[in-house]
Amino acid sequence: MMRGLLRGGRILSESVAELAGICEGEWIVGEVADTGPGIPPEEQPLLFRRFFRGRASHRQGPSGTGLGLAICKEIAELHGGRITLESDGIPGHGSAFAVWLPRAPAEPPPA
Ligand SMILES: Nc1ncnc2c1ncn2[C@@H]1O[C@H](COP(=O)(O)OP(=O)(O)OP(=O)(O)O)[C@@H](O)[C@H]1O
Ligand SMILES: [Mg+2]
Repeated sequence: MMRGLLRGGRILSESVAELAGICEGEWIVGEVADTGPGIPPEEQPLLFRRFFRGRASHRQGPSGTGLGLAICKEIAELHGGRITLESDGIPGHGSAFAVWLPRAPAEPPPA
């Protein structure tokens, strides 16, 4: 899932540390960042729609389906979580995605 969020870049070391599971209150947050083309602000509301392919896909060519992020979003939401995105859209500044998942209850539910 985290690989599906990245493009033209690498997982930054500090983000890998966060992947190990940073707890923000009731949430576990996994963050990945790349050094790729970034995502323009006007594309950001469309990005998680099925079959949407944006500016960065022009480099990628026809190989993608536009389903990767929609699937990631659905997986996160099925776990009661969500995905957030930060990018200023400037090529080379990259993009950062965070996957927020609710922490499991400390006590297992009664049998
Ligand atoms: N890390 C990223 N950096 C820049 N643009 C991105 C990034 N991830 C996704 N995008 C943009 O969002 C669009 C949708 O991404 P998505 O992963 O859903 O589809 P895709 O990569 O085109 O195809 P695939 O279904 O093979 O993943 C991409 O076409 C691209 O324009
Ligand atoms: Mg993809």
